[in-house]
Amino acid sequence: MSLIRLAYASEATFDAQPVEKGVEPHVARILLTSRNNNAKAKLVGGLYYGNDRFFQYLEGEEEEVRKTFDRIKRDNRHRNILTLIEEPIEARTFSNWSMKYVPLSADVRKFLERHGLDKFNPQAFSADQCEEMIELIRDSNHDQKLVNHDESVTAPAGKPSGFSPALKFGLIAAALCLVGALIYAGSLL
Ligand SMILES: Cc1cc2nc3c(=O)[nH]c(=O)nc-3n(C[C@H](O)[C@H](O)[C@H](O)COP(=O)(O)O)c2cc1C
Repeated sequence: MSLIRLAYASEATFDAQPVEKGVEPHVARILLTSRNNNAKAKLVGGLYYGNDRFFQYLEGEEEEVRKTFDRIKRDNRHRNILTLIEEPIEARTFSNWSMKYVPLSADVRKFLERHGLDKFNPQAFSADQCEEMIELIRDSNHDQKLVNHDESVTAPAGKPSGFSPALKFGLIAAALCLVGALIYAGSLL
């Protein structure tokens, strides 16, 4: 039994939805499947999506990493898959993450600026840039917010803000009670 790590870059084949709509649904579906499968296969790692590009990092038993990567390579939601790192490791470093997701954040912007890059293009990353990107994903605390994949907008994912149906129902019921109470009070005068 031996552990390996693997990083690759690829290009999304789907048209990204308008950024105001929140997290890209294709990416959300990929994450759901990845988290399910990777947890079972004891794989850990992270995914970054931006500028229609993916950067993914995986660690685990060699056989499981390779099996998963074979499936990933056949997936038509991305193309031009370029393996950046594939090598043995001593221990997993993303201990609790079956697939950590990092949206474009100030950290990534700073990383791009530091390297004089105007766009996220992991296929052109140097070895050092790959390592830095892995560190960034590992250290990020942006997961779960799924804020947005766009560089300029940071609107929350999912529904736009507003009252939930339960809250709306509660407010209408309260308003009706108030009207009823006023009518009753009026009739007593
Ligand atoms: C960019 C990208 C990353 C993916 N990462 C994973 C992953 O880490 N683990 C995984 O099981 N599937 C991943 N997938 C999905 C696989 O390609 C494939 O659809 C999935 O493993 C099939 O799982 P299922 O047989 O349970 O439906 C990824 C797909 C894409 C496009």
